[in-house]
Amino acid sequence: MSAVPLYEVKNVSKAYGSVAALTNVSMAVNPGEVVGLVGDNGAGKSTLVKVLSGIHAPDSGSILLEGTEHHWRSPHEVLAAGIETLYQDSGLAPNLSVSANVFLGREMTRPGLLGKLGFLAQKKMDRTAYEDLERIGIGFTSTDRPVAALSGGQRQAVAIGRAVAWARKLIILDEPTNHLGARQAGEVLDVIRAAKDKQLGVIFVSHTLPHVLSVTDRIVVLRLGQVVKDAPTSEFDAESLLGTITGLLGAR
Ligand SMILES: Nc1ncnc2c1ncn2[C@@H]1O[C@H](COP(=O)(O)OP(=O)(O)OP(=O)(O)O)[C@@H](O)[C@H]1O
Ligand SMILES: [Mg+2]
Repeated sequence: MSAVPLYEVKNVSKAYGSVAALTNVSMAVNPGEVVGLVGDNGAGKSTLVKVLSGIHAPDSGSILLEGTEHHWRSPHEVLAAGIETLYQDSGLAPNLSVSANVFLGREMTRPGLLGKLGFLAQKKMDRTAYEDLERIGIGFTSTDRPVAALSGGQRQAVAIGRAVAWARKLIILDEPTNHLGARQAGEVLDVIRAAKDKQLGVIFVSHTLPHVLSVTDRIVVLRLGQVVKDAPTSEFDAESLLGTITGLLGAR
């Protein structure tokens, strides 16, 4: 057991008006560890993802990266700290190309007449985006195609590729296999395993319990905004995991 987790929340609560989306939630992820985050619709998974990624500040509780408490003021700060997030409602820009999406918000520039403003190094971005996606096993013939011309599954692949290519410490994936066919979903699970091998931490949110059971080291179960179980994956099987999620464990 490493003494200090990579990323951790302690007693985090978050309400939307009168809706308590998270109540005293604590969880942690270590380097090279894949943590599954599961729960029924509305359990608070995406809200927790947004707290972890700096979109929402918690109403109370603390957030620690490598043992240091942070009060993130924006998602950019979290990105700069090496934590990449793929949101459930994935934030791709449909009219931009695949490579522009991979580089969204951190476009490469090269020095030009305009000095600091520079030009976007388009060719280099296209090539690097292609290499990044290729390296993690998501092949694309042409990264200059607009994302609007891709299938839902291909868009998802680009979003995942972007997250994995840039992450230095942690990847947070909210339902990454949602719109994918069986083969593509399997590829995403392979990407998660590769990230783990690179000693990145991974938080994997999914309703697809066989995926969760196959790829995670530990599972955190949320129900109505609270952690009801946090245990090694080996302690669950399909039936007990479903029972823990629904709260109907043992009831027949
Ligand atoms: N922007 C918002 N404004 C108000 N309430 C919200 C907002 N986002 C989420 N909620 C509420 O907070 C609770 C938790 O929602 P959240 O999206 O975190 O659940 P989830 O576990 O991700 O669900 P799903 O599996 O459907 O994605 C729900 O009751 C939801 O209705
Ligand atoms: Mg959600």
